[in-house]
Amino acid sequence: MQTVNLSTSSGNKSSVLISSHLSDLTRLFNELRQSGRRVVAVTDIVVNEIYGQYFDCEKILIHADEQHKTVDEAVRIVHELLAINAGKELFLIGIGGGITTDICGFVASIFKRGVDFAFIPTTLLAMVDASVGGKNGVNCAHFKNMLGVIRQPQWIYVNPFFLKTLPDRQFRCGIAEMLKMFIIAEDNYRNAVSLFTDKSLAEIMDDEETKHRFILLIQSAIQIKCRFVMEDEFDTGNRRLLNLGHTFAHALEHCTSELFHGEAVAIGMILSAKLAQSPCVSVLKEDFIKCGLPIGIPSHLDKKKFLDAIWQDKKNEGETITCVLLHDIKNVSVSTLDTDTLYKIL
Ligand SMILES: NC(=O)c1ccc[n+]([C@@H]2O[C@H](COP(=O)([O-])OP(=O)(O)OC[C@H]3O[C@@H](n4cnc5c(N)ncnc54)[C@H](O)[C@@H]3O)[C@@H](O)[C@H]2O)c1
Ligand SMILES: [Zn+2]
Repeated sequence: MQTVNLSTSSGNKSSVLISSHLSDLTRLFNELRQSGRRVVAVTDIVVNEIYGQYFDCEKILIHADEQHKTVDEAVRIVHELLAINAGKELFLIGIGGGITTDICGFVASIFKRGVDFAFIPTTLLAMVDASVGGKNGVNCAHFKNMLGVIRQPQWIYVNPFFLKTLPDRQFRCGIAEMLKMFIIAEDNYRNAVSLFTDKSLAEIMDDEETKHRFILLIQSAIQIKCRFVMEDEFDTGNRRLLNLGHTFAHALEHCTSELFHGEAVAIGMILSAKLAQSPCVSVLKEDFIKCGLPIGIPSHLDKKKFLDAIWQDKKNEGETITCVLLHDIKNVSVSTLDTDTLYKIL
Protein backbone atom coordinates (compact mmCIF):
# COMPACT_ATOMS: atom_id res chain seq x y z
CA MET A 1 0.00 0.00 0.00
CA GLN A 2 1.27 3.48 -0.90
CA THR A 3 0.31 6.40 1.33
CA VAL A 4 0.17 10.01 0.18
CA ASN A 5 -0.04 12.24 3.23
CA LEU A 6 -1.76 15.57 3.09
CA SER A 7 -1.16 18.09 5.89
CA THR A 8 -2.04 21.75 5.68
CA SER A 9 -0.67 24.86 7.38
CA SER A 10 -3.81 25.09 9.52
CA GLY A 11 -3.02 21.65 10.94
CA ASN A 12 -5.60 19.65 8.95
CA LYS A 13 -4.54 16.19 7.88
CA SER A 14 -5.71 13.50 5.51
CA SER A 15 -4.12 10.35 4.03
CA VAL A 16 -4.69 8.83 0.63
CA LEU A 17 -4.14 5.08 0.86
CA ILE A 18 -3.49 3.55 -2.55
CA SER A 19 -3.89 -0.18 -2.29
CA SER A 20 -4.48 -3.25 -4.44
CA HIS A 21 -5.46 -5.43 -1.50
CA LEU A 22 -8.97 -5.51 -0.07
CA SER A 23 -7.45 -6.80 3.18
CA ASP A 24 -6.21 -3.21 3.78
CA LEU A 25 -9.83 -2.09 3.68
CA THR A 26 -10.93 -4.81 6.10
CA ARG A 27 -8.20 -3.62 8.48
CA LEU A 28 -9.47 -0.01 8.27
CA PHE A 29 -13.03 -1.10 9.10
CA ASN A 30 -11.78 -3.30 11.99
CA GLU A 31 -9.72 -0.44 13.46
CA LEU A 32 -12.75 1.84 13.38
CA ARG A 33 -14.95 -0.71 15.10
CA GLN A 34 -12.31 -1.46 17.74
CA SER A 35 -12.09 2.23 18.55
CA GLY A 36 -15.82 2.25 19.33
CA ARG A 37 -16.90 4.31 16.33
CA ARG A 38 -20.32 3.81 14.78
CA VAL A 39 -19.60 3.35 11.09
CA VAL A 40 -22.28 4.37 8.62
CA ALA A 41 -21.71 4.40 4.87
CA VAL A 42 -23.37 6.87 2.54
CA THR A 43 -23.32 5.00 -0.72
CA ASP A 44 -24.62 5.05 -4.25
CA ILE A 45 -27.36 2.48 -4.99
CA VAL A 46 -25.51 1.26 -8.09
CA VAL A 47 -22.20 0.85 -6.26
CA ASN A 48 -23.92 -0.86 -3.33
CA GLU A 49 -25.53 -3.34 -5.70
CA ILE A 50 -22.11 -4.34 -7.09
CA TYR A 51 -19.77 -3.95 -4.11
CA GLY A 52 -22.05 -3.80 -1.03
CA GLN A 53 -20.69 -7.16 0.19
CA TYR A 54 -17.27 -5.56 0.83
CA PHE A 55 -18.64 -2.95 3.24
CA ASP A 56 -19.82 -4.48 6.45
CA CYS A 57 -21.58 -1.54 8.14
CA GLU A 58 -24.87 0.34 8.31
CA LYS A 59 -25.71 2.07 5.04
CA ILE A 60 -27.68 5.02 3.74
CA LEU A 61 -28.32 4.72 0.02
CA ILE A 62 -28.44 7.63 -2.42
CA HIS A 63 -28.98 8.15 -6.15
CA ALA A 64 -25.76 9.41 -7.73
CA ASP A 65 -26.94 12.11 -10.10
CA GLU A 66 -26.60 15.88 -10.07
CA GLN A 67 -30.36 16.27 -9.37
CA HIS A 68 -29.79 14.50 -6.05
CA LYS A 69 -26.62 16.40 -5.08
CA THR A 70 -28.72 18.93 -3.18
CA VAL A 71 -29.36 20.35 0.27
CA ASP A 72 -32.68 18.48 0.31
CA GLU A 73 -30.84 15.20 -0.16
CA ALA A 74 -28.31 16.18 2.53
CA VAL A 75 -31.20 16.91 4.91
CA ARG A 76 -32.79 13.57 4.02
CA ILE A 77 -29.54 11.84 4.99
CA VAL A 78 -29.45 13.83 8.25
CA HIS A 79 -33.00 12.63 9.01
CA GLU A 80 -31.90 9.03 8.41
CA LEU A 81 -28.96 9.54 10.77
CA LEU A 82 -31.27 10.96 13.43
CA ALA A 83 -33.69 8.07 12.92
CA ILE A 84 -30.93 5.60 13.79
CA ASN A 85 -29.82 7.73 16.77
CA ALA A 86 -26.38 8.52 15.38
CA GLY A 87 -24.33 10.67 17.74
CA LYS A 88 -20.92 12.31 17.78
CA GLU A 89 -19.26 8.88 17.73
CA LEU A 90 -20.50 8.54 14.15
CA PHE A 91 -17.90 7.90 11.45
CA LEU A 92 -19.33 8.45 7.97
CA ILE A 93 -17.81 6.80 4.90
CA GLY A 94 -18.76 8.03 1.44
CA ILE A 95 -18.54 5.11 -1.01
CA GLY A 96 -19.04 5.87 -4.69
CA GLY A 97 -18.20 8.52 -7.25
CA GLY A 98 -17.76 12.25 -6.78
CA ILE A 99 -21.48 12.87 -6.25
CA THR A 100 -21.48 10.50 -3.29
CA THR A 101 -18.22 11.76 -1.78
CA ASP A 102 -19.31 15.41 -2.18
CA ILE A 103 -22.67 14.92 -0.49
CA CYS A 104 -21.29 12.61 2.22
CA GLY A 105 -18.49 15.08 3.06
CA PHE A 106 -21.04 17.89 3.20
CA VAL A 107 -23.31 15.98 5.59
CA ALA A 108 -20.34 14.91 7.75
CA SER A 109 -19.30 18.56 8.01
CA ILE A 110 -22.68 19.86 9.18
CA PHE A 111 -24.15 16.95 11.17
CA LYS A 112 -23.94 17.89 14.87
CA ARG A 113 -21.39 20.54 13.83
CA GLY A 114 -19.19 17.96 12.18
CA VAL A 115 -18.27 14.29 12.57
CA ASP A 116 -15.25 12.39 11.25
CA PHE A 117 -15.47 10.90 7.80
CA ALA A 118 -13.56 9.04 5.08
CA PHE A 119 -14.05 8.17 1.43
CA ILE A 120 -13.83 5.07 -0.73
CA PRO A 121 -13.98 6.46 -4.28
CA THR A 122 -15.19 4.03 -6.94
CA THR A 123 -14.84 6.17 -10.09
CA LEU A 124 -11.54 7.27 -11.60
CA LEU A 125 -12.66 10.89 -11.35
CA ALA A 126 -13.36 10.57 -7.64
CA MET A 127 -10.06 8.72 -7.02
CA VAL A 128 -7.84 11.36 -8.58
CA ASP A 129 -9.87 14.46 -7.82
CA ALA A 130 -13.26 14.65 -6.09
CA SER A 131 -12.40 12.62 -2.98
CA VAL A 132 -9.09 14.43 -2.35
CA GLY A 133 -8.72 17.91 -0.91
CA GLY A 134 -11.72 18.39 1.35
CA LYS A 135 -14.05 20.36 -0.91
CA ASN A 136 -17.51 19.04 -0.09
CA GLY A 137 -20.39 20.77 -1.80
CA VAL A 138 -23.94 20.43 -3.08
CA ASN A 139 -25.78 22.11 -5.94
CA CYS A 140 -28.34 24.82 -5.26
CA ALA A 141 -30.80 26.61 -7.57
CA HIS A 142 -29.30 24.50 -10.40
CA PHE A 143 -25.85 25.98 -9.86
CA LYS A 144 -23.04 23.55 -9.27
CA ASN A 145 -21.48 23.27 -5.80
CA MET A 146 -23.09 26.54 -4.75
CA LEU A 147 -23.10 25.50 -1.08
CA GLY A 148 -20.16 23.82 0.49
CA VAL A 149 -17.35 23.57 2.97
CA ILE A 150 -13.68 22.69 2.96
CA ARG A 151 -13.03 19.96 5.50
CA GLN A 152 -10.60 17.05 5.15
CA PRO A 153 -11.63 13.37 5.29
CA GLN A 154 -9.48 11.32 7.68
CA TRP A 155 -8.52 8.92 4.93
CA ILE A 156 -9.29 8.05 1.34
CA TYR A 157 -8.95 4.43 0.28
CA VAL A 158 -8.14 4.13 -3.44
CA ASN A 159 -8.24 0.65 -4.97
CA PRO A 160 -8.40 0.20 -8.78
CA PHE A 161 -10.28 -3.06 -8.10
CA PHE A 162 -13.47 -0.97 -7.92
CA LEU A 163 -12.93 0.42 -11.41
CA LYS A 164 -13.52 -2.91 -13.18
CA THR A 165 -17.24 -2.25 -13.56
CA LEU A 166 -17.00 1.46 -14.40
CA PRO A 167 -18.76 2.34 -17.69
CA ASP A 168 -16.34 3.51 -20.37
CA ARG A 169 -17.88 7.00 -20.59
CA GLN A 170 -17.30 7.49 -16.85
CA PHE A 171 -13.73 6.23 -17.24
CA ARG A 172 -13.10 8.92 -19.90
CA CYS A 173 -14.44 11.56 -17.48
CA GLY A 174 -11.74 10.52 -15.01
CA ILE A 175 -9.14 10.78 -17.78
CA ALA A 176 -10.21 14.41 -18.35
CA GLU A 177 -9.50 15.36 -14.71
CA MET A 178 -6.22 13.42 -14.80
CA LEU A 179 -5.08 15.24 -17.94
CA LYS A 180 -6.07 18.48 -16.20
CA MET A 181 -3.63 17.72 -13.34
CA PHE A 182 -0.84 16.86 -15.78
CA ILE A 183 -1.47 19.94 -17.94
CA ILE A 184 -1.21 22.09 -14.82
CA ALA A 185 1.67 20.51 -13.08
CA GLU A 186 3.73 17.65 -14.33
CA ASP A 187 5.62 15.82 -16.99
CA ASN A 188 3.13 12.98 -17.21
CA TYR A 189 0.81 14.58 -19.78
CA ARG A 190 2.33 12.82 -22.85
CA ASN A 191 2.71 9.59 -20.93
CA ALA A 192 -1.00 9.68 -20.01
CA VAL A 193 -2.17 10.50 -23.54
CA SER A 194 -0.10 7.62 -24.91
CA LEU A 195 -1.53 5.17 -22.34
CA PHE A 196 -5.15 6.21 -22.87
CA THR A 197 -5.08 6.50 -26.68
CA ASP A 198 -7.64 4.13 -28.20
CA LYS A 199 -7.65 1.89 -25.14
CA SER A 200 -10.61 0.78 -23.08
CA LEU A 201 -10.40 0.47 -19.32
CA ALA A 202 -10.66 -3.33 -19.65
CA GLU A 203 -7.69 -3.41 -22.05
CA ILE A 204 -5.61 -1.35 -19.62
CA MET A 205 -6.60 -3.39 -16.56
CA ASP A 206 -6.16 -6.79 -18.26
CA ASP A 207 -2.51 -6.24 -19.08
CA GLU A 208 -0.06 -6.15 -16.15
CA GLU A 209 2.26 -3.61 -17.78
CA THR A 210 -0.45 -1.09 -18.75
CA LYS A 211 -2.23 -1.63 -15.42
CA HIS A 212 1.00 -0.80 -13.59
CA ARG A 213 1.47 2.37 -15.68
CA PHE A 214 -2.15 3.31 -15.00
CA ILE A 215 -1.75 2.95 -11.23
CA LEU A 216 1.42 5.07 -11.31
CA LEU A 217 -0.51 7.78 -13.18
CA ILE A 218 -3.35 7.65 -10.62
CA GLN A 219 -0.75 8.05 -7.87
CA SER A 220 0.92 10.93 -9.66
CA ALA A 221 -2.39 12.78 -10.18
CA ILE A 222 -3.24 12.33 -6.48
CA GLN A 223 0.19 13.66 -5.49
CA ILE A 224 -0.34 16.76 -7.63
CA LYS A 225 -3.76 17.39 -6.11
CA CYS A 226 -2.38 16.96 -2.59
CA ARG A 227 0.50 19.33 -3.32
CA PHE A 228 -1.86 22.12 -4.39
CA VAL A 229 -4.18 21.54 -1.44
CA MET A 230 -1.30 21.58 1.05
CA GLU A 231 -0.06 24.88 -0.37
CA ASP A 232 -3.47 26.52 -0.40
CA GLU A 233 -6.17 24.54 1.42
CA PHE A 234 -8.78 27.31 1.35
CA ASP A 235 -8.50 28.06 -2.35
CA THR A 236 -7.33 31.65 -2.35
CA GLY A 237 -4.07 31.17 -4.27
CA ASN A 238 -2.57 28.46 -6.44
CA ARG A 239 -5.24 25.85 -5.72
CA ARG A 240 -7.45 27.90 -8.04
CA LEU A 241 -5.37 26.56 -10.95
CA LEU A 242 -7.08 23.20 -10.37
CA ASN A 243 -10.24 24.91 -11.59
CA LEU A 244 -8.80 24.81 -15.11
CA GLY A 245 -11.75 24.33 -17.48
CA HIS A 246 -14.28 24.45 -14.64
CA THR A 247 -15.74 27.94 -15.10
CA PHE A 248 -16.92 26.72 -18.52
CA ALA A 249 -17.66 23.19 -17.33
CA HIS A 250 -20.03 24.28 -14.59
CA ALA A 251 -21.85 26.64 -16.98
CA LEU A 252 -22.13 23.84 -19.57
CA GLU A 253 -23.53 21.51 -16.93
CA HIS A 254 -26.00 24.22 -15.96
CA CYS A 255 -27.21 24.67 -19.55
CA THR A 256 -27.36 21.08 -20.70
CA SER A 257 -27.84 17.76 -18.97
CA GLU A 258 -26.28 15.74 -21.79
CA LEU A 259 -22.66 16.17 -20.65
CA PHE A 260 -21.05 14.42 -17.71
CA HIS A 261 -18.80 16.53 -15.47
CA GLY A 262 -15.50 15.22 -16.90
CA GLU A 263 -16.72 15.76 -20.47
CA ALA A 264 -17.66 19.34 -19.65
CA VAL A 265 -14.19 19.81 -18.12
CA ALA A 266 -12.54 18.57 -21.33
CA ILE A 267 -14.51 21.09 -23.42
CA GLY A 268 -13.80 23.75 -20.78
CA MET A 269 -10.04 23.16 -21.08
CA ILE A 270 -10.19 23.63 -24.86
CA LEU A 271 -12.10 26.90 -24.36
CA SER A 272 -9.49 28.00 -21.78
CA ALA A 273 -6.73 27.33 -24.32
CA LYS A 274 -8.63 29.23 -27.03
CA LEU A 275 -9.12 32.17 -24.67
CA ALA A 276 -5.39 32.24 -23.98
CA GLN A 277 -4.77 32.10 -27.75
CA SER A 278 -2.56 29.17 -26.98
CA PRO A 279 -0.49 27.63 -29.79
CA CYS A 280 -1.37 24.18 -28.42
CA VAL A 281 -5.14 24.28 -29.07
CA SER A 282 -4.99 21.92 -32.03
CA VAL A 283 -2.61 19.50 -30.29
CA LEU A 284 -4.88 19.40 -27.24
CA LYS A 285 -7.89 18.76 -29.44
CA GLU A 286 -6.13 15.85 -31.16
CA ASP A 287 -5.03 14.40 -27.82
CA PHE A 288 -8.49 14.69 -26.28
CA ILE A 289 -10.09 13.01 -29.30
CA LYS A 290 -7.57 10.15 -29.01
CA CYS A 291 -8.59 9.77 -25.36
CA GLY A 292 -12.28 9.65 -26.32
CA LEU A 293 -13.14 13.09 -24.94
CA PRO A 294 -15.40 15.76 -26.47
CA ILE A 295 -13.76 19.03 -27.57
CA GLY A 296 -16.58 21.36 -28.63
CA ILE A 297 -19.68 22.85 -27.06
CA PRO A 298 -22.96 21.21 -28.19
CA SER A 299 -24.20 22.95 -31.37
CA HIS A 300 -27.68 23.63 -29.96
CA LEU A 301 -26.31 25.43 -26.87
CA ASP A 302 -27.89 28.83 -26.20
CA LYS A 303 -24.81 31.08 -25.98
CA LYS A 304 -26.61 33.81 -24.06
CA LYS A 305 -27.75 31.30 -21.44
CA PHE A 306 -24.21 29.88 -21.34
CA LEU A 307 -22.66 33.32 -20.73
CA ASP A 308 -25.25 34.11 -18.05
CA ALA A 309 -24.37 30.86 -16.31
CA ILE A 310 -20.65 31.70 -16.43
CA TRP A 311 -21.49 35.03 -14.85
CA GLN A 312 -23.19 33.30 -11.95
CA ASP A 313 -20.20 31.07 -11.29
CA LYS A 314 -19.17 31.32 -7.68
CA LYS A 315 -15.60 32.26 -8.53
CA ASN A 316 -16.63 35.58 -10.12
CA GLU A 317 -16.02 38.90 -8.48
CA GLY A 318 -17.33 42.30 -9.58
CA GLU A 319 -17.73 43.02 -13.30
CA THR A 320 -15.23 40.49 -14.58
CA ILE A 321 -15.06 36.73 -14.84
CA THR A 322 -12.31 34.79 -13.12
CA CYS A 323 -10.99 31.99 -15.25
CA VAL A 324 -7.89 29.81 -15.56
CA LEU A 325 -6.12 30.32 -18.88
CA LEU A 326 -4.28 27.45 -20.55
CA HIS A 327 -1.25 28.96 -22.34
CA ASP A 328 0.62 25.70 -22.81
CA ILE A 329 1.33 22.40 -21.06
CA LYS A 330 2.61 23.32 -17.57
CA ASN A 331 1.78 26.97 -18.21
CA VAL A 332 -1.61 28.03 -16.79
CA SER A 333 -2.63 31.21 -14.98
CA VAL A 334 -5.62 32.69 -13.18
CA SER A 335 -6.97 35.67 -15.07
CA THR A 336 -9.97 37.98 -15.20
CA LEU A 337 -11.93 38.55 -18.40
CA ASP A 338 -14.92 40.51 -19.62
CA THR A 339 -17.92 38.96 -21.37
CA ASP A 340 -17.12 40.47 -24.82
CA THR A 341 -13.81 38.60 -24.96
CA LEU A 342 -15.60 35.44 -23.96
CA TYR A 343 -18.31 35.79 -26.58
CA LYS A 344 -15.69 35.98 -29.34
CA ILE A 345 -14.36 32.47 -28.68
CA LEU A 346 -17.76 30.75 -28.58
N1 LIG B 1 -15.08 17.95 -4.41
C1 LIG B 1 -14.24 18.09 -5.41
O1 LIG B 1 -13.11 18.56 -5.26
C2 LIG B 1 -14.66 17.64 -6.78
C3 LIG B 1 -13.71 17.52 -7.81
C4 LIG B 1 -14.13 17.03 -9.04
C5 LIG B 1 -15.46 16.68 -9.24
N2 LIG B 1 -16.35 16.82 -8.22
C6 LIG B 1 -17.76 16.43 -8.40
O2 LIG B 1 -17.82 15.04 -8.67
C7 LIG B 1 -19.04 14.76 -9.37
C8 LIG B 1 -18.75 13.79 -10.48
O3 LIG B 1 -18.25 12.61 -9.94
P1 LIG B 1 -18.22 11.24 -10.74
O4 LIG B 1 -17.85 11.48 -12.15
O5 LIG B 1 -17.42 10.29 -9.94
O6 LIG B 1 -19.76 10.88 -10.84
P2 LIG B 1 -20.81 9.99 -10.06
O7 LIG B 1 -20.64 9.98 -8.62
O8 LIG B 1 -22.12 10.43 -10.60
O9 LIG B 1 -20.56 8.55 -10.66
C9 LIG B 1 -20.76 8.33 -12.03
C10 LIG B 1 -21.68 7.15 -12.32
O10 LIG B 1 -20.92 5.97 -12.16
C11 LIG B 1 -21.60 5.05 -11.30
N3 LIG B 1 -20.54 4.34 -10.61
C12 LIG B 1 -19.73 4.81 -9.64
N4 LIG B 1 -18.77 3.91 -9.35
C13 LIG B 1 -18.99 2.84 -10.14
C14 LIG B 1 -18.34 1.60 -10.33
N5 LIG B 1 -17.21 1.31 -9.66
N6 LIG B 1 -18.85 0.72 -11.21
C15 LIG B 1 -19.96 1.05 -11.94
N7 LIG B 1 -20.61 2.22 -11.84
C16 LIG B 1 -20.13 3.10 -10.95
C17 LIG B 1 -22.50 5.89 -10.47
O11 LIG B 1 -23.63 5.17 -10.04
C18 LIG B 1 -22.89 7.01 -11.44
O12 LIG B 1 -23.96 6.59 -12.24
C19 LIG B 1 -19.56 16.09 -9.88
O13 LIG B 1 -20.70 16.44 -9.13
C20 LIG B 1 -18.42 17.05 -9.60
O14 LIG B 1 -18.87 18.36 -9.33
C21 LIG B 1 -15.98 17.27 -7.01
ZN1 LIG C 1 -13.96 18.69 -11.78
